[in-house]
Amino acid sequence: MSKNVIITDRLILRPVGARDAEAIAALADNYKVAIMLSRLPYPYSLAHARDFIAWAVDQPADETIFAICLKDETESFIGVASCERRETDEPELGYWLGEPYWGKGYMSEAVRAIIAHAFTEAGHDRLISGCRLQNLASRRVLEKAGFEHAGRYEIDSLLLKTRVPGHRFTLSRARWEGLAA
Ligand SMILES: CC(C)(COP(=O)(O)OP(=O)(O)OC[C@H]1O[C@@H](n2cnc3c(N)ncnc32)[C@H](O)[C@@H]1OP(=O)(O)O)[C@@H](O)C(=O)NCCC(=O)NCCS
Repeated sequence: MSKNVIITDRLILRPVGARDAEAIAALADNYKVAIMLSRLPYPYSLAHARDFIAWAVDQPADETIFAICLKDETESFIGVASCERRETDEPELGYWLGEPYWGKGYMSEAVRAIIAHAFTEAGHDRLISGCRLQNLASRRVLEKAGFEHAGRYEIDSLLLKTRVPGHRFTLSRARWEGLAA
């Protein structure tokens, strides 16, 4: 099995691929998702999904973009989580889940697994992440995973065509190892 496939209790995290285009387009075309993300176009089309997939499959090996899928007979695509340096010096954890799948603990489960992968397989020493001030669910996901608040910053919003205030979070390998001990 590829090092970039992670199996958790309820999820399969695997590389994004062409087969995901329609599901990505269906779930990403949601104002409530786009408003929380810095770069997600809205409305979101199948062409956007295909562009995203073409970009994702071309990333360096230590910059992972995972399709989050249910570990059941459907293996349905439910969202994306990435750990990459698109705009930052340090790898940044970012994620979204299709709205029908919110509130079931899926992202907390995915994030825990991706953090472990980032520190053990990808060799990163520190991760950063961030969320808009009002994104209490995302903040909770990060804090439950061990991320520490590291002040405020400005987040791009493609949807709002401006920058919006957000919380910055960081997690060092040392802290993560301490939490796991
Ligand atoms: C943010 C998001 C990824 C969360 O995914 P999820 O699978 O629903 O998250 P989980 O169920 O694992 O955990 C959410 C936590 O936030 C809590 N939460 C949810 N809404 C909340 C709110 N309005 N206020 C406070 N806490 C809230 C939940 O109770 C849960 O905490 P708990 O496990 O202690 O009960 C999902 O809502 C999403 O994709 N939103 C749109 C895109 C987005 O915001 N991406 C992140 C950008 S930074």
